[in-house]
Amino acid sequence: MHPFEFNRHRRLRRSAGIRAMVREHHVSVDDMLYPIFVVEGENVKHEIPSMPGVYHFSLDMLKKEMDEVVELGLKSVILFGIPGHKDEHSSQAYAHNGIVQRAIRQIKEQYPHIVVVTDVCLCQYNPAGHCGIVDEHECVLNDPSLELIARTALSHAFAGADIVAPSDMMDGRIAAIRHILDENDFHDIPIMSYAVKYASAYYGPFREAAHSAPAFGDRKTYQMDPANGREALREAASDFAEGADMLMVKPGLAYLDIIRQLRDRYDVPIVAYNVSAEYAMVKAAAQNGWVDERSIVMETMVSFKRAGADIIMTYFAKDVARYLKEGY
Ligand code: PBG
Ligand code: ZN
Repeated sequence: MHPFEFNRHRRLRRSAGIRAMVREHHVSVDDMLYPIFVVEGENVKHEIPSMPGVYHFSLDMLKKEMDEVVELGLKSVILFGIPGHKDEHSSQAYAHNGIVQRAIRQIKEQYPHIVVVTDVCLCQYNPAGHCGIVDEHECVLNDPSLELIARTALSHAFAGADIVAPSDMMDGRIAAIRHILDENDFHDIPIMSYAVKYASAYYGPFREAAHSAPAFGDRKTYQMDPANGREALREAASDFAEGADMLMVKPGLAYLDIIRQLRDRYDVPIVAYNVSAEYAMVKAAAQNGWVDERSIVMETMVSFKRAGADIIMTYFAKDVARYLKEGY
């Protein structure tokens, strides 16, 4: 016997059965939101060098990818478009026959039950590579950008998108999008707001993937300073007040504290975006044999759930679905 009393926490870790009984959080295929990059052309399935396992798909190849997505039991995808040409008006962002608009129509025809979310932004669509309209002093203009962003969201809704997800970080965009959707009788289309989006180095591989790196300057006048936590609450408050149906935190891993704070304050679904460099770092280490990919991925996914996320947007979605099927 010990001469003193203490608690035996290890009792509840004794066997796999007990551990499963007392497990607080679970990762489900239903939580996964899978990002897909669509490009013009035919017969294109190009791997993105810094994101092994992530591809550019032309629409014909997208069909096969969607077969896999459905086969794995995933229920939602989010589309990013890479247009055939860029112009100052970002016209391909809201073109009836833009790449995203066609992708939406094709997926909804092929698999009507799949939830199609669309990233709403201008940066892939203009030569400046910024998320809004840029003036002659290289300033990103807020209010003039709102009209184009709202028009883009509306064009996605017309094409059949189930949810629109603006990622531009202009002020007032949720109000602008809600207004234009409602005016056009899309009262029932939810807005998933990239409410808290930091100016982050974790987006590096994505910018290669989406051809959306800024041609000059950076995104620090509209995306948030990584040092700021309270400001995240102000951003979330505005988007919530303007009618956002879901709030996203981006990136995810370095910002789990922010996810938790939004979870505690807002009773809307919270989305964690496990961004491109978070993916690339794991893939690179795994390819070197330095980490066990499966364990690292699942530990990361459950950390988002524990922090309070309901939905996890991740390039690992197909892997996670596979691991879960295999009884991870
Ligand atoms: C821009 C946008 C970015 C990402 C998605 N949309 C970041 C940026 O370039 O500022 C990043 C996603 C990722 O890194 O996976 N609207
Ligand atoms: Zn953008």
